[in-house]
Amino acid sequence: MSRTTLRGMTTALRVGLLGCGNVGGALAHLLVDDAERIAARTGIELQLAAVAVRSLSRERDAPIPPGVLTTDAGAVVSDPDVDVVVEVIGGIEPARTLILTALKGGKPVVTANKELLANCGSELFEAASTAGVDLLFEAAVAGAIPLIRPLRESLAGERIQRVMGIVNGTTNFILTRMSEAGASYHDALAEAQSLGYAERDPTADVEGFDAAAKAAILANVAFGARVVAGDVYREGISAITPQDIAVAHKLGYTVKLLAVVEHSDETADAAEAVAVRVHPAMVPSTHPLASVRDSFNAVFVEGDAVGQLMFLGRGAGGMPTASAVLGDLLDAAHDLTTGGLGRTVTLRRTTIRPIDDLRSAYYLTLEVADRPGVLHAVSGVLGKHQVSIQLMEQEGLSAVYAHGYSSGGPSPGSGAGSGEGIGGGESGARLVFVTHPAYERDVQACLGELRHLDVVHQIGGLLRVIGP
Ligand SMILES: NC(=O)c1ccc[n+]([C@@H]2O[C@H](COP(=O)([O-])OP(=O)(O)OC[C@H]3O[C@@H](n4cnc5c(N)ncnc54)[C@H](OP(=O)(O)O)[C@@H]3O)[C@@H](O)[C@H]2O)c1
Repeated sequence: MSRTTLRGMTTALRVGLLGCGNVGGALAHLLVDDAERIAARTGIELQLAAVAVRSLSRERDAPIPPGVLTTDAGAVVSDPDVDVVVEVIGGIEPARTLILTALKGGKPVVTANKELLANCGSELFEAASTAGVDLLFEAAVAGAIPLIRPLRESLAGERIQRVMGIVNGTTNFILTRMSEAGASYHDALAEAQSLGYAERDPTADVEGFDAAAKAAILANVAFGARVVAGDVYREGISAITPQDIAVAHKLGYTVKLLAVVEHSDETADAAEAVAVRVHPAMVPSTHPLASVRDSFNAVFVEGDAVGQLMFLGRGAGGMPTASAVLGDLLDAAHDLTTGGLGRTVTLRRTTIRPIDDLRSAYYLTLEVADRPGVLHAVSGVLGKHQVSIQLMEQEGLSAVYAHGYSSGGPSPGSGAGSGEGIGGGESGARLVFVTHPAYERDVQACLGELRHLDVVHQIGGLLRVIGP
């Protein structure tokens, strides 16, 4: 290992950078442009020793020192002159093999790769632990926001009850536009794409896959739970309508896509159980998460001793993400030079609660026939499955179709509008329910039965409601 002490107290470390795209390019800027300031502040001189990319001919504005660019990422990892490896290629392979090789070779690794960690975290953490070197990944969840380090270090002894976050900036931007400008989902998505917040194929963001990967990593770090992305219950935002958002506002809520990881104490094996899910939810407008707008991320942590904490900031973007990578690099450099033991995560086998076991309040809309006995039939189904109603509103649908939804809305118990309705000429009404806390399995059983009632024309939105 080629660590040398330069200029008195400054320690020089050579960085092997795998990937020089959005994040890697921004990191190269920080390492080269801010080298003196970083060394003066930390006593660590980080030198960009090797940079692996896919294409040598691609134009780059990153300040890459001459002679360090290569397409041979394997050679960077095994280069004896590289002390610490940064992986910002993304995806599973070759990133997984490169990281394992570096760790086995005794080199600390910093990665921003949520997809890899959410699928192969346990293998990588074990490799780091066996080698006794750092595997650090602050940038993998919520980009720039210092979250992994506080969870792993500051809150190491805390009994965490719940971690609940807005961890995808694209969906938060879309929901903000729907909420504040009354945009449709498709218009808000198109705007996000035109601003570069959403990919041309937005599936990973809007269907919650990206947030689910981050939820799995949060479960690893906050609970030491062996959870992978595929274990996470997942719903996206593509079915959210402007009506859902308008009704939520009227009721004092804001709709957010949440990643939720919580301790579940409803099994005999309580200490070993967690619930992990991603879905849109109605958040009370007074809750700190409700005020997180645009593409910002925020994570709300609740613990027995610490109470409530919130972390807020940029969840993506080359520079913000590179800032988190740089912090990890300095930690890894510090550990290397002081002989600190490898920082990694220890996972244990965990029971993952199925979504059916979730107990929550629910928001539900139904489009129904506007005729006597409908409410009785619907509430009978809810009551049969122990789902009790906290709030109910009714609105004539013919008015909705003619004039669009009015967030001024109906008064509770008002009659349906007249005129042509849904269901072949029969006038219709929309029923909006908020339930008391109920089990998901009971709510789903209700939906199954309501679908077969002839007075129910359509099941509208179903959203979980977060408590105050
Ligand atoms: N972008 C963000 O805001 C953000 C935020 C948080 C986390 N992350 C994570 O950070 C990682 C990098 O994201 P990014 O946005 O920087 O990606 P990116 O812009 O697509 O950059 C990927 C880089 O990897 C290089 N590369 C691809 N395959 C390679 C291979 N086989 N060998 C060597 N180099 C290879 C590419 O080379 P070429 O330049 O030659 O194509 C490119 O420089 C991902 O894991 C991502 O999830 C990103």
